[in-house]
Amino acid sequence: MINILVAEDKESFREYIKEVLKTGDFNVFDTENGKEVMGLFESKDIDLVLLDLRLPGKDGIAISREIKKVDSTVPIIIITAYGTVDNAVAAMKLGVYDFIEKPVDPDRLLHLVNRASREQQLLRENIILKEELSKRYGFSRIIGKSKELKEVAILAQKVARGDTTVLITGESGTGKEVFARAIHSMSPRKDNPFIAINCAAIPSELFENELFGSEKGAFTGAVKRKIGMVELADNSTLFLDEVGNIPLALQSKFLRFLQEKTFVRLGGEETHKVDVRVIAATNKELQREVKNRHFREDLYYRVSVFPIKLPPLRKRKDDILLLAEHFINKFTAELRKRKMRFEPKTKKILQNYRWPGNIRELQNIIERAVILTEGDTIHPEDIGIKESLEGIESEIEITDKMSLKEASRIGKRIAEKKLISSILLRTGGNKSKAAKILGMSYKTLLERIKEFGL
Ligand SMILES: Nc1ncnc2c1ncn2[C@@H]1O[C@H](COP(=O)(O)OP(=O)(O)OP(=O)(O)O)[C@@H](O)[C@H]1O
Ligand SMILES: [Mg+2]
Repeated sequence: MINILVAEDKESFREYIKEVLKTGDFNVFDTENGKEVMGLFESKDIDLVLLDLRLPGKDGIAISREIKKVDSTVPIIIITAYGTVDNAVAAMKLGVYDFIEKPVDPDRLLHLVNRASREQQLLRENIILKEELSKRYGFSRIIGKSKELKEVAILAQKVARGDTTVLITGESGTGKEVFARAIHSMSPRKDNPFIAINCAAIPSELFENELFGSEKGAFTGAVKRKIGMVELADNSTLFLDEVGNIPLALQSKFLRFLQEKTFVRLGGEETHKVDVRVIAATNKELQREVKNRHFREDLYYRVSVFPIKLPPLRKRKDDILLLAEHFINKFTAELRKRKMRFEPKTKKILQNYRWPGNIRELQNIIERAVILTEGDTIHPEDIGIKESLEGIESEIEITDKMSLKEASRIGKRIAEKKLISSILLRTGGNKSKAAKILGMSYKTLLERIKEFGL
């Protein structure tokens, strides 16, 4: 039933409107006094208001303004007497739904009321849908009950509302991107697309073009204008993953962009201004990068105005099983398997493992276990931590119970991990150089770095 409030001082006319509305599926509340409108409105869960412009006590314009303040979605239909068009125009500016002139035609009244309430219903459903989406992609998607996680979640929630640049730091797989998306979805920019760019995945010579775009003819092969990420992110959020990898030569241009939100396309002359909120992430110690002169100090201070440090999984042991259960449910549902549980010994291993790849590693291990496990209980051997991954960590896990193949596999991984980390040290963390020296593709190197938690 739709609740309609009728505010009209002339009794005969008020009764007439009530009669008309009775023919529809409406619940009517009425008053003759302008001062009573807000009280009724707030106590009766009103869906639509029919308002006479000239009421004793308070005029219709003032009332409309107050109603809109309380609930901007409620349609207000103004009833005007002949000759009050100016007022009606003022009312329209306030966002009233429509107005209807006296003498009121019953069909027009019913038509207006029906249309307004249908539209309002849709509007409300839309708002609810958006709220649900922001819940789904917002903080409720972040699983964790540990004190450490709650602390950072509160910080993130607080900073979400404004335009402050946020720097999310944390080891690989700790949820930096998940947090960045959550901050975006809790911000006023949430209805615009979240634009993400991984600074480590773009070769330095293409970087400027990707970020700031280019004019036709800016370089050989620039056959048309290219819009850069900063422009795509106008009125929204730009997520710069692995921000420590912005090429040094471009860092001052990027700093200017952060400070003034202005930029010039590659090969262009015109300065463009955008409204972009920047969230950056890194799993490097940016301060160390500054010391090594890989990252400009002034840019460091500008980027790290609001740092959020995500704790590694091993530092929040309370979350491990909670996450593991969450992933079991997720993957059994996705793979249409029956419910599964962990054997107590499996739980113990999960809790004591170091998790160098953090939540991503946990997620991968559980997915694999759900695929491989035949019954409804996940045993230690199903998660494969003991034999390979933990072996990598302690590097002494090769026992005489192993087959030669298993032992060689572990040995190979240990050797790869050691070599990659020492080459990375030598190149000062420069991955493309390291990949060249190692003779592996850039992509494979990135995969190994993630896998080994380097
Ligand atoms: N608190 C969490 N609750 C549930 N899932 C999470 C949580 N944190 C991370 N994840 C999941 O773990 C995986 C890794 O998260 P994400 O990509 O955000 O990490 P990251 O810190 O950006 O990693 P990297 O440094 O490797 O880029 C994703 O699949 C994500 O959905
Ligand atoms: Mg990431």
